[in-house]
Amino acid sequence: MSLTVRPVVGRRAKITALGTYVPPDVLTNQDLEKMVETSDQWIMARVGIRERHVLAKGLGVSDMCVEAAKRCLAMRGIQPSDLEVILVGTNTPDMIFPATACLVQHKIGASGCWGFDVLGGCSGFMYALQAGVKLVESGAHRKVMVCGADANTRMVDYTDRTTCVLFGDGSGAVLIEPAEEGEIGFIDYINEIDGAGGVSLNLPGGGSLNPSTHETVGKKMHYIHQDGPAVYKFAVRKMAEASAKLLERNGVTVADLGCFISHQANKRIITATAERLGMASDRVIINIEKYGNTSAGTIPLAMETAIEEGKLNKGDLVLLAAAGAGFTVATVLLRWEI
Ligand SMILES: CC(C)(COP(=O)(O)OP(=O)(O)OC[C@H]1O[C@@H](n2cnc3c(N)ncnc32)[C@H](O)[C@@H]1OP(=O)(O)O)[C@@H](O)C(=O)NCCC(=O)NCCS
Repeated sequence: MSLTVRPVVGRRAKITALGTYVPPDVLTNQDLEKMVETSDQWIMARVGIRERHVLAKGLGVSDMCVEAAKRCLAMRGIQPSDLEVILVGTNTPDMIFPATACLVQHKIGASGCWGFDVLGGCSGFMYALQAGVKLVESGAHRKVMVCGADANTRMVDYTDRTTCVLFGDGSGAVLIEPAEEGEIGFIDYINEIDGAGGVSLNLPGGGSLNPSTHETVGKKMHYIHQDGPAVYKFAVRKMAEASAKLLERNGVTVADLGCFISHQANKRIITATAERLGMASDRVIINIEKYGNTSAGTIPLAMETAIEEGKLNKGDLVLLAAAGAGFTVATVLLRWEI
């Protein structure tokens, strides 16, 4: 390996704690077989999902962030009032405003901090993560919590088999702090947005262009709409391209990586991307079978899986990659320091 650690303006930043949460209710493929014309066999073969978690009625995405945040704080052994900033990557906020970050701040009692939401499709957690990293690297803040969470089951049409089988609900939170002497933490990133892809994956109703009316609801504009094959092709091509470029410009090869943590939209998207990168399959993290696509929740949930499987250890180089509505693409190279 010839990793050349690029200097940062200011100081280096690292992840110091991780917490995740999925709601207890589970929707299996067998349950879906009773709702739409689909089969466990089709879903497992084409997407790789067996079950997904569903947020209970009366709760919002902020409640999932709160659970993940509490676990993250407990891992680090600090109080909510120690937080300086809360960022939330989500596409399914409790409501259009106020920001979910404000709701989370209030619910966990993080007095004295500020924060905001980041809407980046399934790259939302990654974009929030990188905003948090920059707030620490710049010297502006020392304790930034970044949540990624989505309650996708609230936004899918359970009569549309092409979307309803894909999505689940879940959340995660990481704490970003300054790195210690000798630690590397965050190394580099490559992101890209391409608004031309907006037509291929969107939720058109309820915003300022198409505010909710009986007509928009009748036209099912409050649900996720997508051109599945277009999203599939974009995700594989762009995650692989950006990842390869990121590794190359930092003098890292896939053999140097402890693991590859990708957004979990479709098992075939993950394996196709990993194959293009030449990544050995035993170091590719896949947990979509248990959770489905939780959008901004997938990367922290996959970090948890990687730790549980013994594939993410202190000192490991890790490649993160995501793609989603926008279109958006996000890749991060970091060294895991916990
Ligand atoms: C949606 C997706 C699973 C569809 O898989 P695919 O292999 O591309 O399948 P196609 O869309 O070509 O459809 C193939 C057939 O399966 C059918 N099909 C679609 N969903 C089905 C389901 N849940 N059960 C059974 N059959 C289904 C289609 O109707 C089609 O039938 P036809 O050939 O008779 O027309 C895949 O394109 C995908 O994962 N795309 C990415 C979507 C995504 O991740 N969105 C979130 C972005 S972060």
